[in-house]
Amino acid sequence: MSNDTQISAKVSSVSKSQGEFVSPNMSIEPVSAKTVNDHLSIGGCDTVELAKTFGTPLWIMDEQTIVQSVLACKAGLSGYPQTQVFYAGKAFLCLAICHLIKNMNVGLDVVSEGELYTAVQADMPAKSILLHGNNKSQEELNKALEIGARIVVDNLAELKLITQIAKTKNTQAKILVRVIPGVTGDTHQHIQTGQEQSKFGIALSSLPAVVSFIEQNRQYIKFLGLHSHIGSQIHKLQPFTQTIEILAKTYASIKDDFGLTLGELNVGGGLGIAYTAKDKPIAIETWSRTLAQTVMSEFNKYNLPLPILLVEPGRALVGTAGVTLYQVGFDKWTSNGTHYVALNGGMADNPRPVTYQALYTACLANRMGAPKGSQPITLVGKYCEQGDIIIKESLIAPEDGDLVAIFDTGAYNASMASNYNRTGRPACVLVADGKAEIIIERETNTDLIDKDKVPKRLLKDSP
Ligand code: LLP
Repeated sequence: MSNDTQISAKVSSVSKSQGEFVSPNMSIEPVSAKTVNDHLSIGGCDTVELAKTFGTPLWIMDEQTIVQSVLACKAGLSGYPQTQVFYAGKAFLCLAICHLIKNMNVGLDVVSEGELYTAVQADMPAKSILLHGNNKSQEELNKALEIGARIVVDNLAELKLITQIAKTKNTQAKILVRVIPGVTGDTHQHIQTGQEQSKFGIALSSLPAVVSFIEQNRQYIKFLGLHSHIGSQIHKLQPFTQTIEILAKTYASIKDDFGLTLGELNVGGGLGIAYTAKDKPIAIETWSRTLAQTVMSEFNKYNLPLPILLVEPGRALVGTAGVTLYQVGFDKWTSNGTHYVALNGGMADNPRPVTYQALYTACLANRMGAPKGSQPITLVGKYCEQGDIIIKESLIAPEDGDLVAIFDTGAYNASMASNYNRTGRPACVLVADGKAEIIIERETNTDLIDKDKVPKRLLKDSP
């Protein structure tokens, strides 16, 4: 350890050298991060001021990082005839983010009624919505069909249900079929989805039966293409290119066996980001360019026309945009010399360390130039679980009243947050050009009891 000092040093140069371009997913801090007057500044906003104005814990999202990430993804795809970028909303979704990505001509991959509702409320056009899920409800399918969004079908039973619904609505469902390529990505077991035993998608051996069913129900089903997503936080290109090779071969056999030429191909998301200095992710642009080039060469190999290429990254577009600010609380030493420093948030606003043993990088937002400690400390949360550890070994040396910033909390933090210990979820601000605007309000105690109901008989003074 520790990356913490390195990051402080890196961020502490007042501004980054002009012209030096680091892909946003490769640098631990947001692209707009600077040190100004010894304070961490993001999007031109002093984080110490943000803590005063909005309180802590606070989720900060840097708009510039999101915009640059999207542009990098699109730049990599620019040599391909027709492409569509979808943002995987499960990484982080709220109305403001929907609008932000819509304004950049990016579509949305949704996976629940709530995400679909959010997209609709943000006036996301149907052609820009993809509905995913391994167990979609009738309501979700109904809604997708009603608005004309594309559906990524996960299994044959779902396909049969979609056909029934389309029949009753006398419409044609636009579908892609999710297949399992049998490729394992270099990532945590919980977030690998390309392997044979995955709960998502259709095994390639079962695909002919699915295509036959579609062929028999063409009136109600428009078969656009195949989809594959092999997992998340992947640092190598090989699993992606291997997947595309398998998909191209599958398109060729669908053409040979059924005479069908599919017009779209969705190769999913999954690109990793740097959480610590040890992480060496692939640049976003390199990733999307490699996908595009591989699709071109593989489809040419089989003499197949190029399908419209769809990609759906989540983490790589928003992960490094996010920073969580916490206030330092009590500390304690254990008999074996562990020095715990407690923060005023933890596993409820960031369940990733306890869930995936995810690693993070910290700095002291109010004293960026502070010397590192001589011994590592353990940054823990305030929740009632021993596993509520944000960073096991950090060399920052917090003092009373300090503000700790944890980098790379933009993806799968707010979206996976809970109300554990009846704690309201933090506010989220979007920062850009020296302005910070609330995009998600802090949950209050009133919000926490808002949905509670007490049976009358439990009320002492009830008649
Ligand atoms: N497409 C599909 C079908 C997906 O299931 C996912 C993520 C994505 C795209 C976007 O993947 P990304 O580009 O963000 O890697 N909670 C975990 C990550 C779960 C990913 C779920 N699916 C974590 O915190 O690491």
